[in-house]
Amino acid sequence: MKTALITGASEGIGKAFAQELATRQTNLVLVARSQDKLRTLADELQEQHKIRVEVISQDLILQGACQNLYDRVQDLEIEIDLLINNAGFGDYGAFASRDLQKQLQMIQLNVSALVELTHLFLGQMQSRQQGAIVNVSSMSAFLPIPYMSIYAATKAFVLSFSESLWAENRETGVKILVVCPGPTESNFSEAADFPKVRKRNPSHIPAKEVVEKTLEALNKAEPTIVTGGLGNQVVVNLPRFLPRETVVNLVEKQFKN
Ligand SMILES: NC(=O)c1ccc[n+]([C@@H]2O[C@H](COP(=O)([O-])OP(=O)(O)OC[C@H]3O[C@@H](n4cnc5c(N)ncnc54)[C@H](OP(=O)(O)O)[C@@H]3O)[C@@H](O)[C@H]2O)c1
Repeated sequence: MKTALITGASEGIGKAFAQELATRQTNLVLVARSQDKLRTLADELQEQHKIRVEVISQDLILQGACQNLYDRVQDLEIEIDLLINNAGFGDYGAFASRDLQKQLQMIQLNVSALVELTHLFLGQMQSRQQGAIVNVSSMSAFLPIPYMSIYAATKAFVLSFSESLWAENRETGVKILVVCPGPTESNFSEAADFPKVRKRNPSHIPAKEVVEKTLEALNKAEPTIVTGGLGNQVVVNLPRFLPRETVVNLVEKQFKN
């Protein structure tokens, strides 16, 4: 039986990955800060699907957290077949007016932790000549986003980094996929401090849909997937057809409160 490690598994897209992979008889290692939520989910999935589910409560922003997580997985003598780097958050508001620590922590979680975990687990996968890594980016990766400048920049990093790794690993037996979700039902807007009018965005799709499309793309060994409707495909392609200044002006109108 295969084992997947999912970061940010206590809520939203990460939780939906756990639920879907459990139905596909995949053992799980669930990671996030909220021990209680992870424990409840783990008990439920173990009971329903008769799989092994381990909970590792870890704040991935902390110094040494990723190495600690990796060491815990080795102590449990678990081989990770699928790493899902999903934990992440955004922050809404004009850059200079927002808390600097929060911006730096966002870079730490969305970028540095993802890079470190990828480095730690990729080597093992390459020597086994099998395995897969899914990095959760965002539609925001394709555009500069005024009022979410750091978030969009972190997701652009994840997109670029992951597509490069996809090519580097084409012959190694390890699949790399970057998923770029559009607005998805989760706790994201709450955590990002979005104004109420943004939180009620009707275009949000269920997290389960993102997960199903991602696993389909992974099966086909694709490098990149943008989830959601046709509108999302149009938006991510805007910078290919419009001057950059026009694109950033358009996005600014959308995101200005
Ligand atoms: N929802 C969207 O519209 C959307 C669109 C595009 C991309 N995304 C991306 O999808 C990913 C998942 O987000 P989501 O929408 O599912 O949001 P969410 O519901 O807020 O889930 C975020 C997850 O990350 C975990 N997390 C947050 N800080 C952490 C930390 N310091 N250490 C470890 N885990 C931490 C949270 O658990 P704890 O609080 O328990 O730690 C939670 O499980 C993110 O990378 C996000 O950028 C979301």
